[in-house]
Amino acid sequence: MTRVLITGAAAGIGAALAEHYLAAGAEVVGIDVAPCAPKVRSLACELSEPRALEALLATLAEEPEFDIVVHNAGINVTGAFEKTPIEAQMRVIAINLTAPLLLTAGLLKAERLARGGTLAFVSSLSHQVGYPGAAVYAASKDGLTHYARSLAVTLGPIDANVLTVFPGPTRTAQAREASPPDSDESARMDPAVLAASMARAIHKRQRTLVPGLGNKVFAFLGRNLPRLTERGMRKAIYEKLP
Ligand SMILES: NC(=O)c1ccc[n+]([C@@H]2O[C@H](COP(=O)([O-])OP(=O)(O)OC[C@H]3O[C@@H](n4cnc5c(N)ncnc54)[C@H](OP(=O)(O)O)[C@@H]3O)[C@@H](O)[C@H]2O)c1
Repeated sequence: MTRVLITGAAAGIGAALAEHYLAAGAEVVGIDVAPCAPKVRSLACELSEPRALEALLATLAEEPEFDIVVHNAGINVTGAFEKTPIEAQMRVIAINLTAPLLLTAGLLKAERLARGGTLAFVSSLSHQVGYPGAAVYAASKDGLTHYARSLAVTLGPIDANVLTVFPGPTRTAQAREASPPDSDESARMDPAVLAASMARAIHKRQRTLVPGLGNKVFAFLGRNLPRLTERGMRKAIYEKLP
């Protein structure tokens, strides 16, 4: 049976992915501060706490190997950088960047990723288009992206694939909390659609995934006409943030 490990599996994109793999007959282990859905085996962990991570890794070292590991948990802090508490911004780095690095190091050291398995990292479309009002979040996701890219090259001996996912706005609590109050939630991607797209990319051993046509167009514009997307995001998001 395929074994899947997902961080941040109690809500949002992680919960949708857990549900997708459960429906496909996989065994799913979810890591979160909150309990995951009943059929997911929940491992409680506050990922910003190095000691909690150590304890989690000790538990995982005793488990059978995982075929798929998805580093999905992440947080966002929005607003002008100079006006946001630096502690809150450093927590973004701890959860979005440091935790996946430590978890990956521990899992690889304990040889818990199955031969031919997949490590997936949930980055963000901010990698292509920037993110005014969430510069540290964007930095954490860029760091994760470049880490994944270089790591991929070194995992040849176990034939592992590394996938980096660049979701755009997705209908979750995090997107709601990070957006201006008048935002249209219906325009955001359904997490179940994103989860299915991620599972396909994992199955096909893709290296990257920008899910959905709209996100692909936006990513293209961000790479080729950065001032245009930056101006758009400044007007649509940054200037409307409380
Ligand atoms: N939603 C979007 O539009 C969007 C776009 C691009 C990228 N992403 C990325 O996609 C990933 C999932 O986002 P989402 O929108 O699904 O977020 P979400 O709805 O907030 O769900 C994230 C889950 O991770 C958990 N979590 C957060 N911090 C944790 C910690 N320190 N330790 C353990 N668990 C923790 C959350 O628990 P609590 O709720 O209890 O904190 C929650 O259950 C994130 O990396 C996010 O940056 C999201």
